[in-house]
Amino acid sequence: MARRPLVVGNWKMNGTVREAAELARAVAAGLAGEGAEAAVCPPFPCLAEVGRVVDGTGVALGAQDVSRHRPGSHTGEVSAEMLHDLGCRWVIVGHSERRTGLGETDETVRAKLDRARECGLAPIACVGETLEQREAGEADRVVRRQVDALLDGAGSEAVAGCVVAYEPIWAIGTGRNAAPEDAQAMHRGIRARIAERSSAAADSVRILYGGSVNDNNAAGLFAMPDIDGGLIGGASLDSGRFAAICRAAP
Ligand code: PGA
Repeated sequence: MARRPLVVGNWKMNGTVREAAELARAVAAGLAGEGAEAAVCPPFPCLAEVGRVVDGTGVALGAQDVSRHRPGSHTGEVSAEMLHDLGCRWVIVGHSERRTGLGETDETVRAKLDRARECGLAPIACVGETLEQREAGEADRVVRRQVDALLDGAGSEAVAGCVVAYEPIWAIGTGRNAAPEDAQAMHRGIRARIAERSSAAADSVRILYGGSVNDNNAAGLFAMPDIDGGLIGGASLDSGRFAAICRAAP
């Protein structure tokens, strides 16, 4: 099955509302409907304004996180309902900066994924190993555990509507990306794990690579058969580089 490449910009905790709107305008103008399917994930306070800017441009809106809770007394949280109301199509769950930095467990990530799906948002679920785990030969086992936790929650068919992002933690923001062949091996393993439950879901689910993707290395990564696009941090803050990455998708 042909999977349309997807490139998602994760703007992380950067910029003001005005800067985010300017960046969104430049991204939409730079892409003009060409290249991969594209989405941008600004910080929460910028979602409404960026949503207005990208509306009708072909660039989709996403959020960087969502509450695991239903609406109610959860101070500081943002519900899936609110994100849907703001026009989000995508939401990142389980980013390693939240798993390792803020103690999110597989169970929390799964609950967030379920909440997103309940509200019609498409989750981008992140998995990936640390450098210590890779050096100890544990990378496959760790990623398999994270993927299993997603499958146990969403069910294998439902995973077809999600996107999985493999982001080795040692490659995020370090300028050190996984070699395309190494990333491909992990992506193939993730797809095989999903196929154990549902081959249809495995065929259709898009698996993005993330971790120091830039306009120089994107084409080599995206040429791999099981790499269906990228989750882009640093390079997504430059509209020209982001557009070049989107065009690097086959
Ligand atoms: P990076 O971030 O492209 O800056 O490495 C990727 C991510 O954290 O999603």
